[in-house]
Amino acid sequence: MSTDHYSHHVAVLGAGVMGTGIAAMAVGHGVAVSLIDIDGDKLDRARAEIAGKIRHAGLLGSLPDGRDHGELTLSDSVRDVAGSTAVIEAITEEPDLKAKVLGTASATIRPGTPMISNTSGIPIDELAGSVQRPEDLLGTHFMNPAYLIRMVEVVRGPRTGEAAMAAARDMLTAMDRTAIVVRDSPGFVTSRLLHPMINTAARLVGDGVADAEAVDTLMRGCLGHPTGPLRTADLIGLDNLVDSLEVLHARTGDDSCRPCPQLVDLVRAGHLGRKSGRGFYDYRGALS
Ligand SMILES: NC(=O)c1ccc[n+]([C@@H]2O[C@H](COP(=O)([O-])OP(=O)(O)OC[C@H]3O[C@@H](n4cnc5c(N)ncnc54)[C@H](O)[C@@H]3O)[C@@H](O)[C@H]2O)c1
Repeated sequence: MSTDHYSHHVAVLGAGVMGTGIAAMAVGHGVAVSLIDIDGDKLDRARAEIAGKIRHAGLLGSLPDGRDHGELTLSDSVRDVAGSTAVIEAITEEPDLKAKVLGTASATIRPGTPMISNTSGIPIDELAGSVQRPEDLLGTHFMNPAYLIRMVEVVRGPRTGEAAMAAARDMLTAMDRTAIVVRDSPGFVTSRLLHPMINTAARLVGDGVADAEAVDTLMRGCLGHPTGPLRTADLIGLDNLVDSLEVLHARTGDDSCRPCPQLVDLVRAGHLGRKSGRGFYDYRGALS
């Protein structure tokens, strides 16, 4: 695989927060994308959402000047990964679901095509048991928003091969991304640090120690956090956060990863953060 963006055709599985962000990054860098989701409503909204994200990235100087956009194709069938030069899986953080979808994708694509999971915390080697060629599987933990953040945590599983690592590096370079490679472990580096911190911040709100605004303001003003952990939580999506904490808790036994009641209650009430219009903060009527 080469660093020439026009030679890449990436299949992105999942048209949620991350899938549309990754697709916007790729299309904005001239890379063709097949975006695949089983939810027709998500696909209906995806083209406009991605166009909005590309506009946002352009305004903030995060896209190359004068490069034609890649073609965007939408599909509801995982089998449409066929013919792509890389598969990036960004579906719901449920281990069994990911295993099934990655298994189907790996049975469909050419051997040697890198299969990449954007999981927040499921060990890559756990998922490797479900694909036909474990050596083709690795993790790229794009941060949110993927179309703005250039640094990417790349996870090399114990069975990941050098060819897959090299192909993934080439693809990331073609999209102006900088990779930091880490070893496989639940939550890798970033989620293992960030998720318990957000969980603790939510617990402080639930315990009445401070409200969300005060927690975030202190973390910004005293500790230099860019947005505060609870605004970050709303951006991530509280449903995804609870799923990811459960993945971490089950695999580490670390009690700071057990989703706190405050988070669980918000998710039960349908307050998922920015994507539903309300989480720790209210976004209804805001410009996104
Ligand atoms: N949200 C974040 O900030 C963030 C950051 C880094 C990594 N991640 C990880 O990225 C992945 C996606 O997270 P998200 O926040 O975009 O979730 P999301 O809930 O916004 O989107 C998930 C999408 O997957 C789709 N999906 C579910 N089953 C599918 C299937 N069988 N085939 C195709 N599509 C299917 C859903 O319809 C949905 O559109 C998760 O593994 C998450 O942990 C999320």
